[in-house]
Amino acid sequence: MTMRGALVVRSFDAADTEAVIALWRTCGLVRPWNDPHKDIARKRGEQPELFLVACVDERIVGSAMVGYDGHRGWVYYLAVAPDMRRRHFGQALVERAEQLLIARGCPKFCLMVRRENTAVLDFYRELGFAQDDTVLLGKRLISDL
Ligand SMILES: CC(C)(COP(=O)(O)OP(=O)(O)OC[C@H]1O[C@@H](n2cnc3c(N)ncnc32)[C@H](O)[C@@H]1OP(=O)(O)O)[C@@H](O)C(=O)NCCC(=O)NCCS
Repeated sequence: MTMRGALVVRSFDAADTEAVIALWRTCGLVRPWNDPHKDIARKRGEQPELFLVACVDERIVGSAMVGYDGHRGWVYYLAVAPDMRRRHFGQALVERAEQLLIARGCPKFCLMVRRENTAVLDFYRELGFAQDDTVLLGKRLISDL
């Protein structure tokens, strides 16, 4: 657990489920092809301690779903509630993720951002991330629909 001012970053607990999904919906992170309940259930089965929530006075104000696959570390569902932005809470979540990945010996942290999401690209650049010259390919293995 880490604290920054009133902010506490801790691992996700099952009781956080609905608040976290509401946060993701508010932040526009829920896609029709991803069932958030299934995404949470899957993450609870794999490195659940790397699924982070940020709280202020018990309210869930942020999240980061982090994973290490033995080669790279990844973050998904990074979100801060709109009324809580620009207080460096997003930065606190990413820094906590970095600490946890480094502690596992993870050499590189990667993430995906939609090209048109320029504000988030600015946020990550500010935190030291740079664009790699790669093409992201994907193949759906299990449909949530
Ligand atoms: C991305 C997000 C998590 C950032 O959270 P945040 O708590 O507001 O970010 P921070 O306060 O930690 O920002 C740290 C720095 O990043 C930069 N930054 C953050 N938001 C920015 C924005 N909208 N535009 C430009 N730069 C930005 C700034 O330099 C900021 O420092 P400053 O406020 O002192 O200038 C938040 O905007 C969010 O939830 N967005 C919607 C969800 C989303 O798209 N997530 C990413 C999925 S890939």
